[in-house]
Amino acid sequence: MVQEQSQVISVSEVARNTYVLRFHSPRIARSVLAGQFVNIAVADDCDPLLRRPFSIYRAHGDTCEIIFNVVGKGTLALQKKSSRDVVNVLGPLGTPYSLESEGFMTAVLVGGGLGVAPLPLSTLILRNKGKELVTILGARSSEYLVEQHLENVHVSTDDGTKGMKGTAVDLLASLLPTQRWKSPKIFACGPTGMLRALGKFAVDRNIPCEVSLEGPMACGFGICQGCPVELVDGRSRYALMCKDGPVFDIRRISL
Ligand SMILES: Cc1cc2nc3c(=O)[nH]c(=O)nc-3n(C[C@H](O)[C@H](O)[C@H](O)COP(=O)(O)OP(=O)(O)OC[C@H]3O[C@@H](n4cnc5c(N)ncnc54)[C@H](O)[C@@H]3O)c2cc1C
Ligand code: FES
Repeated sequence: MVQEQSQVISVSEVARNTYVLRFHSPRIARSVLAGQFVNIAVADDCDPLLRRPFSIYRAHGDTCEIIFNVVGKGTLALQKKSSRDVVNVLGPLGTPYSLESEGFMTAVLVGGGLGVAPLPLSTLILRNKGKELVTILGARSSEYLVEQHLENVHVSTDDGTKGMKGTAVDLLASLLPTQRWKSPKIFACGPTGMLRALGKFAVDRNIPCEVSLEGPMACGFGICQGCPVELVDGRSRYALMCKDGPVFDIRRISL
């Protein structure tokens, strides 16, 4: 983990209320793994005081990108950044997806809403490993969809404005019987409700599945104990989302 004073390069709108912040962060860009995140001090005046966590969306050369929706004070501050600004970035943090595992041939990447965030970096790594790739995205409507930097993309929208009308899990359920995916494994990120439904879908069909969780965090690296995740069993009842996650095998956790 490193802390870098990172020069902002750009902030651009890529979909409705959806922005990509690109910043110069060589040490993080060179070491980040798919599914890891950064914790960003979004304001110089300590308001908001706590850092805000974001998945790394893309990393290339000396630069990193995050993608975010403006939902409150922190993300509004990020949306207003320009190339004159510097942000303090802590990362890379957390346990990544286990994309290096030999135990699958087809990676089924599932992103609900801004759960698309860790998928482009995952795509890059999986493509280099020669894995078959399928991407399933769900969004409220077509204007919120972010389909760039992905492969073999299938989409669903809640209102039917693009792709199948329904959720990403509905789409996966409709695709699975029609596809010949060789030993698939699901790598997902999205709202808790979606991950819960997806987890049940995967466990019922005996498909391995890793999910990346989002939830309130403070320190981001295991000190404050403020991000417990309930475990199904094991010696300790709770894991820390920031350190043991945000990526978990769906069978380990109780959502
Ligand atoms: C590991 C991790 C990775 C994340 N990656 C991304 C990402 O790539 N892109 C992105 O846009 N967001 C991501 N988030 C969520 C992001 O950190 C929050 O949206 C952000 O902290 C909100 O800050 P804010 O000050 O704008 O909003 P706040 O003022 O703190 O909150 C505004 C509203 O958003 C809700 N909220 C805040 N945080 C979350 C959360 N984590 N999940 C659900 N609702 C929340 C609050 O309850 C409140 O209603 C991630 C969170 C974690 C833990
Ligand atoms: S956020 Fe502090 S321990 Fe997880």
